[in-house]
Amino acid sequence: MARKQDNVTELDGLESIQYGPTGRPARPFPDPRPLKMHGPARIISLCNQKGGVGKTTTTINLGAALAGYGRRVLAIDFDPQGALSAGLGVPTHDVTTIYDLLLSGSKDPSEAIQHTAVPNLDLIPANIDLSAAEVHLVNEVAREQILARVLRKVSADYDVILIDCQPSLGILTVNALTASHGVLIPLECEFFALRGVALLIETIDKVRDRLNPAIQLDGILATMYDSRTLHSREVLERVVDAFGTDVLETVIGRTVKFPDASVAGVPITDFAPEHAAAKAYRQMARELIQRGAVA
Ligand SMILES: Nc1ncnc2c1ncn2[C@@H]1O[C@H](COP(=O)(O)OP(=O)(O)OP(=O)(O)O)[C@@H](O)[C@H]1O
Ligand SMILES: [Mg+2]
Repeated sequence: MARKQDNVTELDGLESIQYGPTGRPARPFPDPRPLKMHGPARIISLCNQKGGVGKTTTTINLGAALAGYGRRVLAIDFDPQGALSAGLGVPTHDVTTIYDLLLSGSKDPSEAIQHTAVPNLDLIPANIDLSAAEVHLVNEVAREQILARVLRKVSADYDVILIDCQPSLGILTVNALTASHGVLIPLECEFFALRGVALLIETIDKVRDRLNPAIQLDGILATMYDSRTLHSREVLERVVDAFGTDVLETVIGRTVKFPDASVAGVPITDFAPEHAAAKAYRQMARELIQRGAVA
């Protein structure tokens, strides 16, 4: 049996096998076919209560990559920090935000939708007002289902809706999970990556039990991977041991291009389309389409 290592080609019998960083044989994901019809959207939350693991970066770049494959994508900024809105160059003040939609059931969500510079990629922004939502929603009837009701009204116009969650497991995140068909968990390849994941999975299980029986784990995405360090490789190995094929074959490398692209307010797939990280997010888009997580 050949040793499974990054990009190492070894002979196994007569066949030459190339392994990806997750230790599975690397296989190309084909370019997806264009869609003949659009909608209704599959809704996916990007969720991890640990901060700074790549939720927002993944929402931006996966969204842009899927849009590049002709999918109609709506990204929801569900974090009062508004990093997703900023990262896509969309204003967050004096505009209708997701908070307004949560508070007023009669508001038309299309009022809040903004186009980004990326064709096929739209956004509903957020700003610091959203931090008051936790307090306001506490006394609402069916308070966990408010986002689901909002998104139902726009679902027909999109193929996929990506919700960028804040780093907490509070009522906003529970709303996101309740509204979602699937959840993607970005995990940073560092020592404490797995801490807290059990609690996150428990939360998803509770939401499945009580609020949203159909929710699926669409995948775990290893981010900020540095193949040169033993540490990164060991962490990834542990993640694969723990979650098996739930770990996406696509792994996002660590690169300073992401902070640079964020400052420019564009996805890396536009900022540096030939960069390895842009290619990785396009691969992730193809992998999710092949897995059936996205049409
Ligand atoms: N693959 C990567 N390589 C290097 N830096 C990255 C990578 N992915 C994201 N970053 C940077 O790491 C920081 C955190 O990323 P990001 O904002 O996407 O995480 P997050 O999980 O959304 O954080 P928060 O929990 O605060 O919302 C950002 O400065 C981002 O530019
Ligand atoms: Mg974020």
